[in-house]
Amino acid sequence: MEKKNEDVLILAIESSCDETAASVVKNGRTILSNIISSQIELHKLYGGVVPEIASRKHIEKINQVIEEALKEADVTLDDLDAIGVTYGPGLVGALLVGVAEAKAISFAKDIPLVGVHHIEGHISANYIEHPDLEPPFLCLVVSGGHTHLVIVKDYGEFEILGRTRDDAAGEAFDKVARAIGLGYPGGPKIDRLSKEGNAYAFDFPKAKVDEAPYDFSFSGVKSAVLNHLNKCRMQGEEIVAADVAASFQRCVVEVLVEHAIAAAKDYKIDKLAIAGGVASNSGLRTAMEEACRKHNIGFYHPSPIFCTDNAAMIGVAAYYEYQKGTRHGLDLNAIPNLRLGER
Ligand code: KG4
Ligand code: ZN
Repeated sequence: MEKKNEDVLILAIESSCDETAASVVKNGRTILSNIISSQIELHKLYGGVVPEIASRKHIEKINQVIEEALKEADVTLDDLDAIGVTYGPGLVGALLVGVAEAKAISFAKDIPLVGVHHIEGHISANYIEHPDLEPPFLCLVVSGGHTHLVIVKDYGEFEILGRTRDDAAGEAFDKVARAIGLGYPGGPKIDRLSKEGNAYAFDFPKAKVDEAPYDFSFSGVKSAVLNHLNKCRMQGEEIVAADVAASFQRCVVEVLVEHAIAAAKDYKIDKLAIAGGVASNSGLRTAMEEACRKHNIGFYHPSPIFCTDNAAMIGVAAYYEYQKGTRHGLDLNAIPNLRLGER
């Protein structure tokens, strides 16, 4: 049954990695609630996300998180126009919890089901606090699992200009943080420690991929940091962790900014957004803002809470998919390696 409210109310569910999240979104850009139950403390013990533990925790938390999201938004399941849910990419067992929950609600309440691509969600986070932002624009997506430079041609329509050839940006942050001894998740810790260090203490390599000017490669800079740490340890030299963190962050940020600005100029796009967990990095935000100002490009970024995994961004993406007529059946499945733009 398609309900016809004046307002379109969507309940969104996100469970692709280690956050169990639910949100109610009104008319695509107004967030009525945004509940996130993070498992970080649990996975910290193991130095990274343990998929089986993540799935089990999602099952334990999901009903409670949804109830809270509905309560805070002051709505009931009967008020909803659609259920949006992340169905890929991500950890299959984790995704399945959200997908099964969304299908159950859709079936029980006879509400349309809209499956959402996780990265489309990250990109859509930019719409929440920028009411003026509309496609087309360029978006740099930098998360724990993905690094993409994308032209957002229209809502839900993407042209991928570049991607990482090896590690994702967030993955490189996490691995380097672990090597320095900062623990999981590494991104925010490197960000914080970098503020106390000299970003020019070391010149780690900034890889370019031949004939693919918008592609990224972070394994070289990661290996260079690991080699530096090993050398210091073997020669009994002191490791200045803040300098290593700051220099590593600068090298990664410079590559991200250079590629994004080059693409904006080559394709004559005057709006540039960033998205994903690494988009909350203070060094990246400052450098990108400066570069955009210099090149007369409008710069857009979500608040940090909407950069890392959350369900509000899934609700925004679900709204635009819903308006375009996207509907999924009860055969919707979790697709761990779902590609952007695929349905
Ligand atoms: O988007 P996200 O929450 O999950 C994925 O979809 O992967 O991104 C998580 C990633 C982690 O690798 C984390 O270390 C990184 O984002 N991250 C950061 C910062 N905050 C989170 N990286 C650099 N600086 C930060 N402030
Ligand atoms: Zn994510």
